[in-house]
Amino acid sequence: MFARALIFAVVLGVTSSQTDTPLRTLAEARGKLIGTAVDTTALVTDRGYRETIARTFSSVTPENVMKWERVEHVRGVPDYTAADQLVSFAKANNQLVRGHTLVWHKQVPDWLTSAGFSGEDLADVLRSHVVDEASHFAGQLYAWDVVNEPFNDDGTWRTSIWYGAMGTEYVAQALQWARGADPAAKLYINDYNVEGINPKSDALYTLAQSLLARGVPLDGIGFQAHLTAQHGAPTTFTANLQRFADIGLDVAITEVDVRIALPADEDKLSKQADVYRALMQSCLAVDRCVSYTVWGFTDEHSWVPHAFNGQGAATLFDELLNPKPAYVAVANALAEGVIP
Ligand code: XIL
Repeated sequence: MFARALIFAVVLGVTSSQTDTPLRTLAEARGKLIGTAVDTTALVTDRGYRETIARTFSSVTPENVMKWERVEHVRGVPDYTAADQLVSFAKANNQLVRGHTLVWHKQVPDWLTSAGFSGEDLADVLRSHVVDEASHFAGQLYAWDVVNEPFNDDGTWRTSIWYGAMGTEYVAQALQWARGADPAAKLYINDYNVEGINPKSDALYTLAQSLLARGVPLDGIGFQAHLTAQHGAPTTFTANLQRFADIGLDVAITEVDVRIALPADEDKLSKQADVYRALMQSCLAVDRCVSYTVWGFTDEHSWVPHAFNGQGAATLFDELLNPKPAYVAVANALAEGVIP
């Protein structure tokens, strides 16, 4: 393993000075959080995984265990065990926790979708869920992804279970319920394919403006950033972050991964590093960009190969927890700061 790490380091120009200072130390100097999604099963079983999170990141997001299907698998029987364990781990390691996610069309419990609820019932069930979960974690999370993925790529509303039940108002309602239950958490809407300026991010921007104008408690926008090495980072990302910041919102990069068409090679890894670097440079360039969170940090525990056929190697560290060029690119971007 050591030999492999050394060869890797030499071939790719990873020197110890670039990897000695943990990302969280570099990020702190820039006033940003650096976070990762956490697979809580790996957190229990894999010591290297655990130690790398503690050393490298200043914020954690539960990859799955705060989702509705996990916290209320059986109706009326809440189970926050795994999520509570992550919150304790974060506290012990002086890390903040980003809650993810209260209102989404995916990973909802079977009882919810199979019961034939009316629209009115669904609104009641959603309110209970948001209030119960946000109350359980009240005071322990710095932010909540309250609403996840409300739009289609063409900027129309996603006709989700929640849209079907409540129309567009489900977003404002969820934000209000969450604020009532946890006044301290920053409340976000989070989506993917909204990194560049495009019809989907335009729709999100219009929604954000109208919510703010009505006094709805919206504090920030999350940009997931599930990207490909091949297509690169959207060139309008900084400008897009800035336009949301300019209307008084925080912005956060919430789920970065940069997938590669397998097998990976040096060229693809270098393109991947460019994307990770560009995203960090955008965050550094926008004062109100509070955090840069990766959706998994090691290729050993990443959702990408399961979700995208033939693609993978999407994270900062390889399967053996050796830093990849992408890691060095993020470290260097943090060390350099804003590029004038
Ligand atoms: C993914 C998890 O990583 C997987 O383990 C799970 O099977 C499906 O969900 N956008 C989101 C995340 O907001 O919650 C998703 O996480 C990835 C896409």
